[in-house]
Amino acid sequence: MKTCSNGSYSAYLLSSLCIAFVIAVFVLSGYFDTSIRFSVSTLKYSIPLIELQSKVLSSDHDDNARAVRSARFTAGFSINSLRNQSVISEVVSSDPDDDHAQAVRSARSTTGFSFNRLRNQSVIRRIGKLSGEEKVERGLARARASILRATSGGNVSSSTTTTAAINDDGNYVPNGVVYRNPGAFYRSYMEMERRFKVYVYSEGDPPMTHHGPCKDIYSIEGRFIHEIEHGRGEFRTSDAHRAHVFFMPFSVTMMVKYLYQPLSYNLTPLKHFVSDYVRVVSMKYPFWNRTHGADHFMLTCHDWGPHASQGNPFLYNTSIRVLCNANTSEGFNPQKDVSLPEIKLYDGKVSPKLLSPPPENAPRPYLAFFAGGLHGPIRPVLLRHWKNRDSDLLVYEYLTKDLDYYSLMLQSKFCLCPSGHEVASPRIVEAIYAECVPVILSKNYVLPFSDVLRWEAFSIQIDVSEIPKLKEVLKAVPEEKYRRLKEGLRVVRRHFVLNDPAKRFDVFHMILHSIWLRRINVRLA
Ligand SMILES: *[C@@H]1O[C@H](CO)[C@@H](O)[C@H](O)[C@H]1NC(C)=O
Ligand SMILES: *[C@@H]1O[C@H](CO)[C@@H](O)[C@H](O)[C@H]1NC(C)=O
Ligand SMILES: *[C@@H]1O[C@H](CO)[C@@H](O)[C@H](O)[C@H]1NC(C)=O
Ligand SMILES: *[C@@H]1O[C@H](CO)[C@@H](O)[C@H](O)[C@H]1NC(C)=O
Ligand SMILES: *[C@@H]1O[C@H](CO)[C@@H](O)[C@H](O)[C@H]1NC(C)=O
Ligand SMILES: *[C@@H]1O[C@H](CO)[C@@H](O)[C@H](O)[C@H]1NC(C)=O
Repeated sequence: MKTCSNGSYSAYLLSSLCIAFVIAVFVLSGYFDTSIRFSVSTLKYSIPLIELQSKVLSSDHDDNARAVRSARFTAGFSINSLRNQSVISEVVSSDPDDDHAQAVRSARSTTGFSFNRLRNQSVIRRIGKLSGEEKVERGLARARASILRATSGGNVSSSTTTTAAINDDGNYVPNGVVYRNPGAFYRSYMEMERRFKVYVYSEGDPPMTHHGPCKDIYSIEGRFIHEIEHGRGEFRTSDAHRAHVFFMPFSVTMMVKYLYQPLSYNLTPLKHFVSDYVRVVSMKYPFWNRTHGADHFMLTCHDWGPHASQGNPFLYNTSIRVLCNANTSEGFNPQKDVSLPEIKLYDGKVSPKLLSPPPENAPRPYLAFFAGGLHGPIRPVLLRHWKNRDSDLLVYEYLTKDLDYYSLMLQSKFCLCPSGHEVASPRIVEAIYAECVPVILSKNYVLPFSDVLRWEAFSIQIDVSEIPKLKEVLKAVPEEKYRRLKEGLRVVRRHFVLNDPAKRFDVFHMILHSIWLRRINVRLA
């Protein structure tokens, strides 16, 4: 399997060539010919019933599964009554949303039901005439209704501690004060897992499309593209008519690398690339024009992402732009755009010091810590007031060789996260990993996942005007409040972790969930 490593573009080409060669050999030797015929015939005429049963019953949130499962417990039913194989293959191939399931369910609720009524093909076929688009909309309407019901429900369970949410099994249930509305989030997340389908445009070639940076500060860009294109694929569909959103997998960071003339400050080539991409897909497919791009998304962590997106006015004004540079005074619109966390991966990895949570009672001798260059509008103020001033509130421009960045984070109670050249900072995620309470010092920054997470439950926001009083403000945080903030960090950590392959509720899933919320246009708060 391809991994998002520091593997270069040439390695990508080479592996594609190898795969193409292998396929060519198979085709020439007639292997595929027979194997395809074999699998088609298996599907159509002779799915073994045991396999069918496990296939239908395996997925928990599947309507078909539920319908069949409960049908199985209905008196008189036995899986053998599904003798008509063409019915079986229709039921198996249908989506969770699908109306076959609906047919099964309503048939079940009718008195005198027996599964044999499924033999009435005209029922199934009539409902089956809905177009892919109608089914998509119908499914979304159901998801919206279900989420809205959960929104008024509040908490998932009656537990009132944040720690209740910590468990590492696959059945995570969000709970506690770090969530705006844990019940609604949980429902929305489950609906996403059950329904959400992304169509990834195939147009374009690496390195500027289907590829992105996998290390350093913009790594989230490459990681996302890699995961959606080569990951487990449960959210990807190859049937564009069944898709809820359309992804344009170009990388602004790669455009900067290959198209930008260093020091020219001319971003026109980036805008042209984006504009051409939109033009190509809008001419080749009907989907862009249908909504003026409202169900399309792009994703970039590069500072110039918002500029590049100006290449097409509809992309800028209407599409979902997933951006690290979520600066509302540079056109970021939280109603439709998504704030992307910046995660710095030196050499493609998280520092081993931050990989697992630090011991809960590890000593933290310093009040606060920051080290970083003098960029952007806010850091000069911070450094002017605090650089090398205080032995308790450590503020450095650059660390001397004898000091270690992550060790200092792990030894501090608060980590200062001022904006730099742009609003986002990789320090925020690093502070979460280090359980060092982030102190957000920014203006016009929409924090990642803030429609789900209550940032005030695990971070502190301090107005830039209060920088001169920073020490007083931090010292005034009561011990009990600090303890709760740290507890909150333990809970949200999983939402900021990059896994390869992705795991439920991790950063990849949270990004997708933000996109899902924009697509269904539901607010959870
Ligand atoms: C099975 O379904 C097919 C397709 O609708 C239909 O033509 C056929 O008559 C059915 N067979 C039985 C035994 O019900
Ligand atoms: C099959 O469904 C059609 C359309 O709903 C209905 O008119 C017909 O009576 C049904 N036939 C049987 C045998 O249930
Ligand atoms: C939900 O849980 C939080 C703490 O986890 C608690 O403060 C709040 O009162 C609960 N709300 C409801 C509606 O139960
Ligand atoms: C979409 O609209 C553009 C501009 O109006 C047009 O050139 C293009 O052909 C349209 N695409 C399709 C698939 O009709
Ligand atoms: C996009 O929004 C800007 C500013 O609101 C507006 O000037 C421009 O006409 C819009 N473009 C489109 C295509 O709607
Ligand atoms: C946010 O955008 C405004 C307007 O372009 C700019 O003045 C400000 O410096 C930006 N903030 C940061 C932290 O880059």
